[in-house]
Amino acid sequence: MFKIIKKKQLNSAVTLMEIEAPYIAKKAKAGQFIIFRVDEHGERIPLTIADSDAERGTVTIIYQAVGRSTIMLSQMNEGDSILDFVGPLGTATHLDGYKKVCVVGGGVGNAIAYPSAKALFNNGAEVDVIAGFRSKDIVILEDEFKAVCSHLYITTDDGTYGEKGFVTNKLQSLIDAGNQYDLVIAIGPIPMMKFVSKVTEPYGIKTLVSLNPIMIDGTGMCGGCRVTVGGEIKFACVDGPDFDGHQVDYDELMKRNSFYKEREHCDVDTCRMLNAKPE
Ligand SMILES: Cc1cc2nc3c(=O)[nH]c(=O)nc-3n(C[C@H](O)[C@H](O)[C@H](O)COP(=O)(O)OP(=O)(O)OC[C@H]3O[C@@H](n4cnc5c(N)ncnc54)[C@H](O)[C@@H]3O)c2cc1C
Ligand code: FES
Repeated sequence: MFKIIKKKQLNSAVTLMEIEAPYIAKKAKAGQFIIFRVDEHGERIPLTIADSDAERGTVTIIYQAVGRSTIMLSQMNEGDSILDFVGPLGTATHLDGYKKVCVVGGGVGNAIAYPSAKALFNNGAEVDVIAGFRSKDIVILEDEFKAVCSHLYITTDDGTYGEKGFVTNKLQSLIDAGNQYDLVIAIGPIPMMKFVSKVTEPYGIKTLVSLNPIMIDGTGMCGGCRVTVGGEIKFACVDGPDFDGHQVDYDELMKRNSFYKEREHCDVDTCRMLNAKPE
């Protein structure tokens, strides 16, 4: 069992948890993820390792409660334990040798982008972060990003905080202002990663995106996380989750991810634990 050491609500839907998992904490690198199962009836759910502390033996996850399993996890508290917590899985992001990088996060994707920004900054790179949110009330990790980047630009779609507009507008204006990035990392909703890649493509700026297909085993066996990159079939759990943003077939990924939408809604509606009324 894996004990929840710390729980912090970052906004109304996003929770940070530190989990006691010393073996994972020892090996975790930026870009890798874990798969958890709340209990013996739970689904296997992938979440990025947002941070880790080898000395304390803890792994940090930051997740948005969007459906049955993430809602169940968010109902657990400090001192409770999760049945399964497996990792580190996936290929770590290659972050050596870059001098000037722009890390672009969208919504909860900022939590997935944070460890890469931190690792790049600690490697001595100049790191600009563009953190995009729909609105002020869901802004997360502002102080954490400030500590690991050269410039932090926050954008909100409705203009209630930071600059009004999309992350793509800000990225375009930074490129137009003469910033010469040798890498852009984009992590967030699939359309956002697609359009960030479209902004960087004409300039030949290397762009990494972190893909989020449905994953089951997380070890390359089931084929659930199949994606097409550069015309070739890849398995995101072992070949990724990071891929060349200019080569990804985003439309196929969106289609495959929506395959179980109806079933996922039913799951939330019928789950007895989620619908339980306090006695
Ligand atoms: C490598 C990877 C890293 C991720 N890291 C994070 C993270 O750090 N924080 C975060 O909030 N979210 C992250 N996600 C997304 C997260 O796994 C889904 O939000 C979660 O699975 C939803 O499950 P649910 O039962 O709560 O919701 P459901 O209602 O079952 O699903 C909601 C949506 O989540 C996605 N999803 C459902 N099951 C899976 C699955 N087994 N594998 C992948 N996606 C699924 C689907 O797009 C679905 O439409 C990551 C996904 C991947 C693949
Ligand atoms: S999750 Fe099964 S092959 Fe990747």
